[in-house]
Amino acid sequence: MMDFSPPALDGIDGLISPSLVIFRDRVAANIQRMISMAGGADRLRPHVKTHKMAEVIRMCESAGIHKHKCATIAEAEMTASAGGRDILMSYPIVGPNVWRFLKLQQFFGATQFAALADDLDTVAFIDEAARRHHQKIRLYLDLDLGMNRTGVLPGDKAFEVYKLIASSPNLIASGLHGYDGHVRDANLSDRKSTARPGQEALFAFRDRLIGAGLPVPSLVVGGSPSFPTHTGLTDPTIELSPGTLVFNDSGYGSRYDDLPFPPAVYLLTRVISRPGHDRLCLDLGHKAVAADPAPPKARILAMPDAEPLGHSEEHLVIQCPNPEEYPVGTALWAVPSHICPTVALHNWAYVAEGGKIVGRWDVTARGRVISI
Ligand SMILES: Cc1ncc(COP(=O)(O)O)c(C=O)c1O
Repeated sequence: MMDFSPPALDGIDGLISPSLVIFRDRVAANIQRMISMAGGADRLRPHVKTHKMAEVIRMCESAGIHKHKCATIAEAEMTASAGGRDILMSYPIVGPNVWRFLKLQQFFGATQFAALADDLDTVAFIDEAARRHHQKIRLYLDLDLGMNRTGVLPGDKAFEVYKLIASSPNLIASGLHGYDGHVRDANLSDRKSTARPGQEALFAFRDRLIGAGLPVPSLVVGGSPSFPTHTGLTDPTIELSPGTLVFNDSGYGSRYDDLPFPPAVYLLTRVISRPGHDRLCLDLGHKAVAADPAPPKARILAMPDAEPLGHSEEHLVIQCPNPEEYPVGTALWAVPSHICPTVALHNWAYVAEGGKIVGRWDVTARGRVISI
C-alpha cells in the first residue's frame, strides 16, 4: 500500500488554499525512478500533459530525458521554449493545428518535432501544407492497440497509411505510436496479459513494414499502468511514455502496487464549513480538483475513508465520522484522484524543498494557446 504522507513543510498557515504544493525532491526522485525502471533516459518519452510546466521539462532535460510527448500545441510550445529537444505531438493534427504545428517548427529551429496521423486524407493534407511552407514534417502512424480511441488497427489500412507517409515528398516516416490506456488491471501479471496482444501486433506490423522496405525508426508505446509491462521490451527503437508517474496521484497510487512513485504534488485545502453532524465542507470544488473520475475526487489524508457527498464549483462536501475534530479553518492535505486535469485547473503551484516553500511554478501550458 502506497504511503501517501507528504514531506514535512513549515509555514502551512500562510499558504493560500485551495492550492497545489509540489515537492521538488519527490519530482526529481520520480524522474530517476522512471529512468531506472525504463532502463535508461533515452528509452523514455514522458507525456507533458500531466504537469504542463517549464520547470519540469528542465528537470527532465537535465536528467537526460530529451524526448517529450504532448497533446496540445500549447504544451509543445511550452516544451520547446523550456529547451525540450525532441517533441512528439501525440495527438492527430487537423485543421488550423496543422498551420500551428508548422509555425512551431519554424520558430523553434533547435527542436525536432513530429506528429501523428491515422488517415489517408489527413496525411495528404499535411503533406500539402508542409510543401506550401517549404518544410518537412515527421509523422508517426497512430495504431489502435486495443483502446479504440484514435489510431488504426495494425492491418492493411494501417499499411496503406504508413506507405503513403513514407512516399510523400514532404513527410518523413518516423515510426509507430500506440497508446494502450485500456491496460488497467490492478494485478501486474493480469496487466501483462492484457498488454501482450497489443505488443505482439505492434512488432508483427513493424516487421511487415520493414519487410516492405519502409523505415520504422521508432516505436512509442504506453502510459503509466502499462509502463511496467513494456519495460522488459529490449527492442532498441522502443520509447516508453508514461505521464502521470512524474507526479502520481491517489487513483494510480492506490491501485498499482508495482508503481512505487510517491505523490509529488498535494492539494492544500481548508475546512470552510461544518454543515451537519457528520460532514465537512472543504474548499476543493471542481475548479480546484478534477471532477473525474467518479468519487473519490481526492484522498483527504487525515480521513482516508471520507466519502464525497457533493462537489460543486468551489465546494467539496465529505461525510466523515468525526467532523468535530476539524474546526473551520483547519488545513488538510489531499492527494487528487486524477492529477493531470487537477494541475490544469491551476495557474501556478507552490514549490517546496527542504521543508520550506521556495517559490512558485507556472502551469504555463494550461491554456490552449500561448503565442502560436
Ligand atoms: C497518448 C498518451 N500517451 C501517454 C499517456 C500517459 O498516460 P498516463 O497518464 O497513464 O501516464 C496518455 C494519457 O492520457 C496518452 O493519452
